[in-house]
Amino acid sequence: HSRQWLSSIQRLSLLLLVLQNSALVMVMHHSRNSPTGSQPRYLTSTAVLVVEVVKLSASLLLATYDTITSHSSSSSSSSSSSSSPSSIAQHLYCSIFAPDSWKLIVPAALYTLQNSLVYAALSNLDAVTFQVTYQLKILTTVLFSILLLGRTISLRQWLGLLLLTFGVALVQLSPPTTPDVITTASWTEKIASLFTSPSQSSTIHHNALKGLAAVVGASLISGLTCVYFEKILKDSLSSNSSSIWIRNVQLSFFSIFPAFFIGVMWYDGVNIAQNGGFFAGYNIVVWATICLQALGGLIVAVCIAYADNVAKNFAASLSIVVSYAGTAVVFGERMTLHATMGAAVVVAATWLYKSRPSTQQLGTLLPVSS
Ligand code: C5P
Repeated sequence: HSRQWLSSIQRLSLLLLVLQNSALVMVMHHSRNSPTGSQPRYLTSTAVLVVEVVKLSASLLLATYDTITSHSSSSSSSSSSSSSPSSIAQHLYCSIFAPDSWKLIVPAALYTLQNSLVYAALSNLDAVTFQVTYQLKILTTVLFSILLLGRTISLRQWLGLLLLTFGVALVQLSPPTTPDVITTASWTEKIASLFTSPSQSSTIHHNALKGLAAVVGASLISGLTCVYFEKILKDSLSSNSSSIWIRNVQLSFFSIFPAFFIGVMWYDGVNIAQNGGFFAGYNIVVWATICLQALGGLIVAVCIAYADNVAKNFAASLSIVVSYAGTAVVFGERMTLHATMGAAVVVAATWLYKSRPSTQQLGTLLPVSS
């Protein structure tokens, strides 16, 4: 029964991640590239901080719910007053600031940097190039799993990884329209045109090299951080020391410090003071980006806890197909040949990798029965 429950949770969380990822890349890219008229464009450092605040609040709510349900079931057997609000608050406080909570400082700092790099990448690359190149995180995740956790992978899986690298390179070899300037892919422009009047021209110049460096950096950090986080999460779940939501509260709590002091104050402090304040340039699309990203963080945590990081990354690469299909259906447009071929190779590579059960080798809490 518990195996079935786990398998349903795994499938549901991976499916949700596919949908969330597709939506996030499109909405975030639009939020960075649509014309803003006389308004300043919102600062990504503020968005990174707001996402952490939203995630902290949501994780805290879920942790409180968890604590209440576990307390009420334990107090029904022993007639103690352990389900009173003050004892629940105390229990939450002790769990969040447990002696081992410092372990989350490293992933919190790294995820904050990664999230900032993702914004930088999507400000400088078109959505398809970003999404496909970011699949490099599959490679980095496997490498860090081998290096840090001593896991092994089969020959077929190595082949899948090679193919993946080739697919990513294929998309990157796509020549820019003019030197140093990449125009947004046609479908993302179409999305943008849904929200803007035709009179607003969208000649936003992108620095492709900067975008590429950002996405490669984000992929490296993603691999390292998610492997580290998976280890912390699975250790605490198997020893029953902290729940997934407590770990998430700790992660968001420690992320708020670098996001605020380094991102908002140090990097963008002057900009914020001179250009209309913290929420300057915020609109419905920016809030949608923030909510989708916060939701993604929660879904990623469930995927890492109940499936594993590689499965999580497969779901992310599958979202490329969903974005393709979605935009083809909505706009009737085809992508550039390079991008289409690259994405097809990436997807084929992930299926090649997945076609043998990798979960056992990569070590999950409980492997899914196929
Ligand atoms: O691209 P990748 O899958 O590595 O992205 C992970 C994302 O999930 C990051 O934005 C990170 O901040 C977020 N995350 C989270 N909570 C977790 C694990 C990851 O918000 N427990």
